[in-house]
Amino acid sequence: MKVTVSLIKADVGSTPGHHVVHVKQLEVARERLMREKNNGEIIDFYVFNCGDDIELLITHDKGENSEEIHGIAWDTFMEVTEKVSKPLKLYGAGQDLLAEAFSGNIRGLGPGVAEMEFEERESEPIVIFAADKTDPGAFNLPLFRIFADPSFTAGLVIDPSMSKGFTFRVMDVLESKYVDLRCPAEMYELVGLIGTTNRYIIERIFRSADGLIAAACSTSKLSLIAGKYVGKDDPCMIVRCQHGLPAVGEVLMPFGFPHLVSGFMRGSHIGPLMPVSVQDARCTLFDGPPRVVALGFNLLNGTIIGPNGSEPADLFRDVAFDRARGEANLITDYIRRHGEFMPARLGAEELEYTTLPAVLEKLEGRFKKY
Ligand code: F6R
Ligand code: MG
Ligand code: MG
Repeated sequence: MKVTVSLIKADVGSTPGHHVVHVKQLEVARERLMREKNNGEIIDFYVFNCGDDIELLITHDKGENSEEIHGIAWDTFMEVTEKVSKPLKLYGAGQDLLAEAFSGNIRGLGPGVAEMEFEERESEPIVIFAADKTDPGAFNLPLFRIFADPSFTAGLVIDPSMSKGFTFRVMDVLESKYVDLRCPAEMYELVGLIGTTNRYIIERIFRSADGLIAAACSTSKLSLIAGKYVGKDDPCMIVRCQHGLPAVGEVLMPFGFPHLVSGFMRGSHIGPLMPVSVQDARCTLFDGPPRVVALGFNLLNGTIIGPNGSEPADLFRDVAFDRARGEANLITDYIRRHGEFMPARLGAEELEYTTLPAVLEKLEGRFKKY
């Protein structure tokens, strides 16, 4: 059976400030998707949040870029905005809904989308990730380690079905074009690109031997859509696991290293990406440090199956990630001791919705030839 997994997210308001979503927002989203499920429009769904972002996990049989499914997600975010965010005067109500109206595909309208269609395997384990206060480039390093680095994924060496490696589709988000690079043969070219995390972003990954889709990520950059800086593009992604693909434990392994990502306060700083439970995905200190959550489940003809029933497993809710969290706290303290000096703050071209351009403008007439 062919099934499509769509993970669609948007920040449509939170409290206090950019901290976390309101419980009523999640309720309204769940009610809406339950109606769609009862009508037979979608197979199953799970609504959760990563900090101030609402994440809609939807399974269905309508394929990628389905107008119907994207429309449902758009309408859900609109309903949450109108019924909860605006009446409660939540902060940033409807902020990621950049378009006036839905026009066929939610990509490019503000919300982030990670989506993949595939033939459901005999058993189909999946891990989805969502991050807050960072951008899509944050997944480049862990994805490289999961699908190309044998020091992290033992299966690349031990499981013959992975020995032909994986093909990475890399987006140039500035020029809206992509290139497919095969690993290990083109590993150096791949790292050459994806090391530049603000421009070259992994969009999907295929198993080279048979083209099987293994991972899909959101790559939207709100600033590039709106033509100006309008906020961070907190990313999400879907990763299929096991049986000829990296195991769940291999997929989680790179997140034990809290690598530096851009985002954090005002989307303008670097900070460590802290792996946390959904409960702990609540940025505070300097609007951070940036967080990532991982939810795991199996599919049963498109239905979501987790350890307790229909709820996925909260995979970073594990003491095994305590050390990474502690390390992330130490790194946060160290970086913040730099104040507003690079590299703690991003380079000028990357500074998002800050007042830096305004500061420069103010000083313009005062610069003298040297
Ligand atoms: C980061 C983020 C926050 C805000 C900050 C200022 O992604 O969303 O750090 O940038 O709280 O927000 P405004 O400008 O809305 O007061
Ligand atoms: Mg926000
Ligand atoms: Mg967010």
